[in-house]
Amino acid sequence: MILDLPKWFDLHTHFRQGEAVGDYVRAHVAMGCAGALAMPNTRPPVSRVSGDATEDSWSIEGYSEVLREAGAGVFEELIVPLYITRGTTAEMIVEGARSGGLRACKYYPPHGTTNSEHGVPMAELVGGPVLKAMEEAGVILCIHGEQHGLAGAAYFDSGRNAESAFYGDAMPGLLEAHPRLRIVCEHITTKEAVAFVRGADGARVGATVTPQHLLYTVGDLIQGLKYHLYCLPVVKFDADREALREALGVRGQRQFFAGTDSAPHSAKVTECGCAAGCFTGGCAPQLYAMGFEAGGRALDVGAFEAFLCTNGPEFYGFPVSAERFQMERVAGEAVALNTAVGEVVPLPLGMGLSLDWRII
Ligand code: NCD
Ligand code: ZN
Repeated sequence: MILDLPKWFDLHTHFRQGEAVGDYVRAHVAMGCAGALAMPNTRPPVSRVSGDATEDSWSIEGYSEVLREAGAGVFEELIVPLYITRGTTAEMIVEGARSGGLRACKYYPPHGTTNSEHGVPMAELVGGPVLKAMEEAGVILCIHGEQHGLAGAAYFDSGRNAESAFYGDAMPGLLEAHPRLRIVCEHITTKEAVAFVRGADGARVGATVTPQHLLYTVGDLIQGLKYHLYCLPVVKFDADREALREALGVRGQRQFFAGTDSAPHSAKVTECGCAAGCFTGGCAPQLYAMGFEAGGRALDVGAFEAFLCTNGPEFYGFPVSAERFQMERVAGEAVALNTAVGEVVPLPLGMGLSLDWRII
């Protein structure tokens, strides 16, 4: 079986900073990717719209230039969202939207994930001038939807976790306070988040889904403590994974689209634990196809193409790619990426698994 598809867009990825940026970008280009939304949790964070880099911050303009010089110049689209910090102002939003440099902002729960320590709690943003300015200017809010600061059972339990808490407690108030704000619920993992997105106005609320959350559950992570599968939000239970698969398989759905959350870490295991993030550069479309086929499903090419190639551009308001790429259903291997900062292991290799598809 060969799939001939428009080149796809990765609407949530991490290209980092420093010498390996070009390696990460090239791995994306090699898998038929026509463009990306590159997350701003770099060091330093991308927390201004324009101007020169300083020790404490990058601008969208400056970081985009770094990415373009490292190879992202071939992309048809490159979106860098603004990291919402305590320094973000309504004036920055208004001016950024007016100049065209600002298209999206990223909400990080403070200390909730890799390089998220500059984030501001959602409760402090709701109803405030930054979100009001975004709503007014049509700037999209990308949300890492996990309640921060929870301990133990409230953070992760069979009936409740940081994501279900966020979607239950914080999201309704956000929608109500900002009725025109357009939102992307990033890397959703739970049946509660799926139900929230499906119940919301599709023109307003979209969601990205990663390959790992379509393919694995927490059992896969725990069995052997496979830290290459450790990312945030953590992979959940079978009922959650089924809710994701079901939502993506609905013909004509326009709300769910590809955002791999590919998050390269050259050192996954650290002195104080494990860095959160799964690297899926080079193999994301193959893994997504495996996710669409999981549980004995036949791959629905229409639903797959919508998810991978067209829904994202439509939600963000840029054209679907006119270029094409092909995938073939033959066994392939994921390979480690040798970068200037060391080897980065892609998720399936770290899990000891091969691929059912290859890019041709
Ligand atoms: C991401 C990273 O490493 O930058 N890690 C992750 O587990 N997903 C950060 C993020 O998107 O939460
Ligand atoms: Zn991410």
